[in-house]
Amino acid sequence: MSSQVTLEKITNLCKRRGLIFQSSELYGGFNGFWDYGPYGTAMRRAVEATWWDYMVEQRENVVGQDSTIICHPQVWKASGHVDQFADIMVDNKDSKKRYRIDNLLEQQSEEVLAKVAELMGSETDIGKLEAAFETKLQEGENIDSVLLDAKVIDPSTDKVGDWTPPRQFNLMMQTYVGPVFSEENKAYLRAETCQPIFVNFQTICNSTRQKLPFGIAQTGKAFRNEINPRNFTFRSREFNQMEMEFFCHSDDSMDWYNFWRDQRLAFYSDVLKFKPESMRTHDHDKLAHYAKAAMDIEFEFPFGWGELEGIHHRGTWDLSQHAEFSGQKQEYFDQARNEKYIPTVVETSVGLDRLMLALLCEAYDEDEAETAKDGKEVEGRVVMRFPAIIAPVQVAILPLSKKLAEGARELHAKLKPFFRSEYDEAQSIGKRYRRQDEIGTPFCLTFDFDSLEDNCVTVRERDSMSQERVAIDKLANYLMDKIRG
Ligand code: GAP
Repeated sequence: MSSQVTLEKITNLCKRRGLIFQSSELYGGFNGFWDYGPYGTAMRRAVEATWWDYMVEQRENVVGQDSTIICHPQVWKASGHVDQFADIMVDNKDSKKRYRIDNLLEQQSEEVLAKVAELMGSETDIGKLEAAFETKLQEGENIDSVLLDAKVIDPSTDKVGDWTPPRQFNLMMQTYVGPVFSEENKAYLRAETCQPIFVNFQTICNSTRQKLPFGIAQTGKAFRNEINPRNFTFRSREFNQMEMEFFCHSDDSMDWYNFWRDQRLAFYSDVLKFKPESMRTHDHDKLAHYAKAAMDIEFEFPFGWGELEGIHHRGTWDLSQHAEFSGQKQEYFDQARNEKYIPTVVETSVGLDRLMLALLCEAYDEDEAETAKDGKEVEGRVVMRFPAIIAPVQVAILPLSKKLAEGARELHAKLKPFFRSEYDEAQSIGKRYRRQDEIGTPFCLTFDFDSLEDNCVTVRERDSMSQERVAIDKLANYLMDKIRG
């Protein structure tokens, strides 16, 4: 990530260039919901297609599915989401601000944290403290005054808050199915895309020729009623996930866990070209009782390191729960082993919108470009150095003069079937380059008066700004080679 990047610059650029902006802006926006404009949509579809190609289409042992967003409510009972998918929150009665307990504690001084830890009988580590709050709330212990007694500061006022007792807040979004808004018609919007994969495991086993070990992947919307949506799209209430659940024998599960961790790290470094210093891994300190391992792949956002993807060993938990709640066995008969067992699952789970934000932050750069404007030699430019495979526009066709529109449009029509391309004849060539730099177009083709004679165009490369004359009949192959790297 460039040292010049801030979240404010990214948000402004996204709005200015129609990549991402607030949902329902006309009505003042809607907290935690974001819309994608033409360039944002093109890029998000390309990122999803790149993930799908890497995780599903290039493999023989992963298949896809596409489930509904609303499933039978028992799915979420079985998964534990209805009873346990909750964050702990508190309100400051003075400032009327609401906080997730871990976010609030992260912003306290060492002294205040030490006092909270002492009152909670825990260590000062935020993860351990949060777990202590969870346990005590579940056990019904009175911790109503802990934040008051520890004089916890409200970060929005820098004063000690008048805190409400901490309480659990379920993150599932609810709706009703059918004409009557009654308890028995209550349903949930899915909180993760993976649960319908577990529910469909037997059907997919029976309807495909897949044998264990194999994976099922799904991309799509997930919904969480986040207490504090923040940091642009990082924590939203409606977002997209790209998940793959790999079913295997428990004896092999740690080998598969390591395999998928390495594959996912290679996706970021080799396919999406993240710099090594932008990424790190973080093993979970606290594991679910059924899991053998779990880790996060983190990215350094302008606001600090944040989880991008989770790699989780889920044991046999999900299939066992669905077996219990549905009353239908979720076992697999392994012919090679002559053994019947409930498969163990290794999961890879990344948020598409969070990945988009990481790509935007990674790509952002400011440098200088040649100019003839106002007698200056150079001018500043903002350039998004996206990998060409996911850039919203891969090729821009820019006629030097409107008189050249016919030939330039013909060229555009030839390239359009192969590349995400754009024709632009408005304003000076310098301004058009700046606009394309800001949306990260890797190749600009200038169609000039010589093009009519020599059937060549000038290809300008975004990052180096180097220019090369290329024959029009060789362009498609030339660009294809460059884009595929
Ligand atoms: N099935 C496992 C699961 O859902 P998770 O860690 O809760 O695990 C996986 O979510 C990924 O989904 C995260 O690493 C993150 O990229 C994305 N994600 C989770 N909550 C999100 C939110 N509120 N807004 C945007 N992305 C989110």
